[in-house]
Amino acid sequence: MLDRPGCAPALHRRAARRRFGNEANGFAVTHTVNIYSIFWHANCMACAKRRHPSQGAPQCADTLRSHQVGKGSMVYKSFRLGGLKLSVNADRAGAGVAISFSGGAWNSFVNKVRGPRPPAADAQAQTMPAAAAKAPSTLEEEVASQYWYHTIDLGNGLRTPGQFDHGPLIDRYQLPTSLAGKRVLDVATFDGFWAFEFERRGAAEVIALDLDKPADLDWQPALLARATPEQLAVRFGKGFELAKRELKSKVQRVACNVYDLHPDKFGMFDIVHAGDFLLHINSPVKALQNMAHVCREYAIISDVYFPELEHFGGMPLMEYRGGRDDVTWWRFSLAALQQMVKDAGFSRVELVTTFRYGQRNMPENMHHAVLKAYK
Ligand SMILES: C[S@@+](CC[C@H](N)C(=O)[O-])C[C@H]1O[C@@H](n2cnc3c(N)ncnc32)[C@H](O)[C@@H]1O
Repeated sequence: MLDRPGCAPALHRRAARRRFGNEANGFAVTHTVNIYSIFWHANCMACAKRRHPSQGAPQCADTLRSHQVGKGSMVYKSFRLGGLKLSVNADRAGAGVAISFSGGAWNSFVNKVRGPRPPAADAQAQTMPAAAAKAPSTLEEEVASQYWYHTIDLGNGLRTPGQFDHGPLIDRYQLPTSLAGKRVLDVATFDGFWAFEFERRGAAEVIALDLDKPADLDWQPALLARATPEQLAVRFGKGFELAKRELKSKVQRVACNVYDLHPDKFGMFDIVHAGDFLLHINSPVKALQNMAHVCREYAIISDVYFPELEHFGGMPLMEYRGGRDDVTWWRFSLAALQQMVKDAGFSRVELVTTFRYGQRNMPENMHHAVLKAYK
């Protein structure tokens, strides 16, 4: 998922951010540096605080009015000299100056410094054709013979070697200790870690939804163009089935695109869960609308967000990542993530927590948010 192992992170994606200023006196200056830009932004803290995403919808009328782009209240000017661009922006919540670098010469410099990029981790992993090696004769061999996204405790000391280990993070999600009597849907289940966890907490029924094969994923055209027919036809869900068997679980995996999710298909669910997949699909709001449609009580939605998009007084910004050979389409700000969930048909969205995490044996280089959205 998400980041590409092997990229020099300080150079590629991670922006260094510093905040200066005296918040008590009503202002702060944020200084952001990444490989494509240097950005300074001064914020009115009174507005920014009132507009903090964890508080939901904007409450500062000035800030709200000033964000109505098109009504002339936001100023944006840019000046370009070759690959160098100077941009100035201002609204009632703050003002910013950015120097950004682009163009062929800059990109080839970046590529030279960064070195060759490996194929996207997820794409590579999810579509790995089954090893041609001899059939595994023990459970350990069977587990070792395939890719695992989730780290799942299969009992007797055997754990799947997942790309991610959610176990140590689970308390942060603040899931109810008991889900007795609840009907739960886990959207984008992959190996089923979350679905099995809901069952372990006593849910009456858990449905785990995911796709059948890579060809059904929302891949970007460039990624799709270089995928082989064998890669596109790999069958998803083998890890899930193995874990289900070993855990003696009753969770039912259904092959269904989230875009086709509808109450007529699987009925209604008390709780809907969806972790870390909105950034991988090209229509996240549509997916969220479908989840809201089948949800009776609340949804738990987690995803990756990018704090460097929190400039402009907390506007719900998201960066479109199209035109790339990658498995992600979006970078969300926390505000965008919350606003999308709310707009999809939930009455109230609560920010449960944020934390940093990363792939196993990698730095904790991703910012992660958990939201609880009430019907
Ligand atoms: C990064 S994994 C997330 C796994 C898990 N939800 C978690 O939070 O740990 C993304 C999953 O989304 C699934 N997925 C992607 N697009 C989908 C779609 N349109 N409908 C259903 N599942 C989808 C993928 O097959 C993959 O299993």
